[in-house]
Amino acid sequence: MGSIIENELFSSSVIKDLHALDFDYVPAELPHRTEPLKKLAQMFKPLLTNIAQNAFIRGPVGTGKTALTKHFCQSLVQIARKQGTMIEYIHINCRKRSTDAMVLLGVLTHFDSRFPDRGFSVQEMLQVLRTHLQRKEAQLLLVLDEADALLKKSGSNLIYDLTRFNDETMKTSNPVSVIMISQKDVFTELDAAALSTFKRSNAVVLEKYARDELCDIVRQRVGLAFHANTVLGESVDLIADIASEFGDARFSIELLWKAGMYADEKHAKQVVPEHVRAAKAETYSVVTETKLKNLGKHQLLTLLSVAKRLQKDGTAYANTGEVEKTYAITCEEYNEETRAHTMFWNYLKDIEQAGFIQVKLSGKGQLGTSQRISLPDIPAEVLRSKLEGLLA
Ligand SMILES: Nc1ncnc2c1ncn2[C@@H]1O[C@H](COP(=O)(O)OP(=O)(O)OP(=O)(O)O)[C@@H](O)[C@H]1O
Ligand SMILES: [Mg+2]
Repeated sequence: MGSIIENELFSSSVIKDLHALDFDYVPAELPHRTEPLKKLAQMFKPLLTNIAQNAFIRGPVGTGKTALTKHFCQSLVQIARKQGTMIEYIHINCRKRSTDAMVLLGVLTHFDSRFPDRGFSVQEMLQVLRTHLQRKEAQLLLVLDEADALLKKSGSNLIYDLTRFNDETMKTSNPVSVIMISQKDVFTELDAAALSTFKRSNAVVLEKYARDELCDIVRQRVGLAFHANTVLGESVDLIADIASEFGDARFSIELLWKAGMYADEKHAKQVVPEHVRAAKAETYSVVTETKLKNLGKHQLLTLLSVAKRLQKDGTAYANTGEVEKTYAITCEEYNEETRAHTMFWNYLKDIEQAGFIQVKLSGKGQLGTSQRISLPDIPAEVLRSKLEGLLA
């Protein structure tokens, strides 16, 4: 028994740095976020002359809001310090701290880890904050991540207090700047007083990542986290294909991580498309028994042919011409009459519409045999045995 465990513990891994696959890991470069980064830098220029700025960052899940903000704020702090401007940057997650008092407590423990977690009112805590900033001769850059949680639970009092703080500290030059991050537009939840200091124009909106952008993001992560040549290009392509449905970088990195774990589990030297499909299936799969039972016999045979082809070739994509050949052989196996080419195409369309496969034009935009089929959702091996069970 001991040696079994030992073998697994010390078996080689395709992953060289697991930490680089963490969700809170921020890479030194963020591909495809240069424009928003420039915009933030323009917006926050005034901080270098001790004038506060507020901004709002919005975008769907996994579009890099948190990563971009951390990256920007950390850089800004360093650049400002070189110029003799001290900025204290504090990043608060309002999903975890959703009241004014809890946010402020988070802020104060940044300065003093032993600050008592009860016994101070919000106004008193603001006063303590002021003292800290004065003592440090610093300004505050406060990021309220997932700010909608705070606004929903506690309204915009804190935003208002913090911005009023600036009016009072104008002379002492310890201004407070606030960046709010949220998936949704939170302007509707700010009341007029707080709104007046949050200019609508100071918004940075991040869009979902396109397929090729995800490809670059995944490729970067492969370089950071995996040993050289352990992840096939086709695997990266397949991950980008799958994640492009949501435009979510987090999902793509999660797939990469799981595919790597899966490869290790199989003691494979490389992450191949089959491992990506397994990772996807673990996340969620549209291939359920009930959905399969809704397919007709020849649709099942067609899908089985796709699975066989992909399993045999070990590739991310199967050529439709090849699949049609396998389909003919499979029909013979099951004593079914092979249907004509046009029918075969209809079957492909049916199973594509049901979400089992993706069909895309390969290269030159030719019709017919030059289309490529991928199975984004489930390992070919698993699908094959399910189908063989159903067809038996
Ligand atoms: N342009 C990028 N380059 C490299 N990695 C990225 C990029 N954008 C996002 N990521 C990575 O994707 C993951 C998700 O990003 P992030 O946490 O910033 O998303 P988010 O927009 O804050 O999502 P949520 O709304 O769920 O909080 C993180 O691991 C982050 O490092
Ligand atoms: Mg986030």
